[in-house]
Amino acid sequence: MGRIADEDVARVRDATDLVSLVSETVVLKKKGRLFWGNCPFHGEKTPSFKIDPSTQLWHCFGCNRGGDAFGYVMEAEHLEFPDAVRRLAERAHIEIVETGGSGVPTGHKERLIAACTEAAAYFHRQLVAGTASGAGQARDYLARRGFGSDVAKRWSLGYAPHGRDSLVRHMIDAGFTRDELVEANLALADGASLKDRFFNRIMFPINDLHGRTIAFGGRVVGSGEPKYLNSQETPVFHKSANLYALDRSRNEIVSSGTAVVVEGYTDVIALHEAGIRTAVATLGTALTERHVKLLGRFGTRVVYLFDGDEAGQRAALRAAEFLDWGITPEAGSSRVDLDVAIIPGGKDPADLVTTEGAEAMSKVIDGAQPLLRFTIDRRLEEHDLASPEGRSAALGAAAAVLAPVRGSLLAQDYVMYIAGRLGTEYATVERAIPAKRRQPSAEASTQAEAAAPERRLSAEEKTERELVRLAAIAPSLRGEARLLLAEGAVGGEKARALLEIVTSADDAVGDDLYTRVAETDREAAGVLAGWLVDASEDEQVEYAFREVAARVKEFALGRLISKKKGELQALDPAGDAESYDRLFGEIAELQRERAAIRVRPRAGTEVEAE
Ligand code: UTP
Ligand code: MN
Repeated sequence: MGRIADEDVARVRDATDLVSLVSETVVLKKKGRLFWGNCPFHGEKTPSFKIDPSTQLWHCFGCNRGGDAFGYVMEAEHLEFPDAVRRLAERAHIEIVETGGSGVPTGHKERLIAACTEAAAYFHRQLVAGTASGAGQARDYLARRGFGSDVAKRWSLGYAPHGRDSLVRHMIDAGFTRDELVEANLALADGASLKDRFFNRIMFPINDLHGRTIAFGGRVVGSGEPKYLNSQETPVFHKSANLYALDRSRNEIVSSGTAVVVEGYTDVIALHEAGIRTAVATLGTALTERHVKLLGRFGTRVVYLFDGDEAGQRAALRAAEFLDWGITPEAGSSRVDLDVAIIPGGKDPADLVTTEGAEAMSKVIDGAQPLLRFTIDRRLEEHDLASPEGRSAALGAAAAVLAPVRGSLLAQDYVMYIAGRLGTEYATVERAIPAKRRQPSAEASTQAEAAAPERRLSAEEKTERELVRLAAIAPSLRGEARLLLAEGAVGGEKARALLEIVTSADDAVGDDLYTRVAETDREAAGVLAGWLVDASEDEQVEYAFREVAARVKEFALGRLISKKKGELQALDPAGDAESYDRLFGEIAELQRERAAIRVRPRAGTEVEAE
């Protein structure tokens, strides 16, 4: 096993939602911005374990453990850091590249990606230069769709030839093993021999987020069933974790803030070619919460476009079923607005841009409606709201849409909306929402304030800790904190080490800061997590810092005074009068200095004994 690249660690971190990870085993309850639960790491009956979704950090003030998602898995499964990364990578279906000492990829998955890449190149050559009649038909079909050779090149489109094993033979010659071809789903075992999985099809290579080919969609040339054949799930291809053309769209999605999701590969290509370069497509499945989260890493709004044919309209009606809390305001940092629109005139997006141009398409995108609103309206439309029976049926149908987001602020808004449309009470609609699976139990107590005891710290330790905490949440204070360090004013070893890291972390805050500290010292980062969870810098922070800094200096002077007093005691006042007097003078001076700092002692803080 090799070293995991930093970039991969970051990808795994980005793809992991701490709240959903922890809720696999812990009942969490939302309170304010935070999620609370009983700490899985020490026995307790009232929750002292909290998660801040915006920083993706957790902390338990009962046992004082804390950290990020990796730290959580390390604690929960007793894993070392690299194994925690591997474990979460697997959970997120992220393929991580591990390099040996030489830097050469050694992973089995890289071989499968290499196989797909080689196959894509082969298919592409068959399309552009193939002499078989099927290749010519494929070129003609694409050209009729407006996809000439330049488009085919830009999208690496291909043609899988007729015949049982043309690809297999090519791939074996290229050095791939039979197992690899089967695992990459490029070939199927047929008794003792292998046959191509795709033949006589137009091939659309499917890339991962980083542009590496991991799968294919293949369309029949002419008509036939199935019209599209897609790669099955493989170790490198997961339909729910990938979207067609996301590698090409991601930058554009970041800059525009919106991602457009369509149904077909050809729709994506037509939209991009028409200048709408935020388009992606699902891979023969519905859009799931996972997809939405993935898109939420790049944009804040997702427009889900459905074909105007009957199948598309049916799919649109079911769209809300595949989603969950991800679309609610409570989803926090990963919140995404999910809107839907149906292409008018029974068309699909490709038809619309081809016949009416990009402008008409942009209009449809701009006019998209929130998914829940859209779904509720369609359901209400299906009933006769003039009759009591119709209203009652409509109530059940519309309220059911809210089940997955029951309890959210978003649901409240729509409960109000449905009540208005049906002329009924808010409570009636609310009662009609079916219970959601896996809801945090209502009984889970959230007596968060009933803190379990923490190891007792001395006043000095507490003060220095507070200093580090303030520097951690307020980058503006780090310069001054560094001066204190340079003066040697911070006595506690742990506090000093942590403050060193924090003050050299530039302006990093929240999870960024956590990550930088964790790189040096995971245990220190655990302590830090407790502070960064729910930390917001307020105007009080400067004031608090001045107070704390003064106290830290006071303690530092106290330590120095004690030390000099010790030295003084060791001296013989008569035998070494000169040294004795000098030391005595120094102590007096230090005591004056300290008294000057102490002009305004803080209420409630004990004065240390000398
Ligand atoms: P469409 O049938 O709308 O295809 O399927 P299209 O993009 O308009 O293709 P053309 O224009 O007829 O060539 C849309 C998507 O649904 C999935 C594929 O992902 C396709 O891109 N699909 C469709 C399948 O997975 N299997 C099928 O049999 C049909
Ligand atoms: Mn279509």
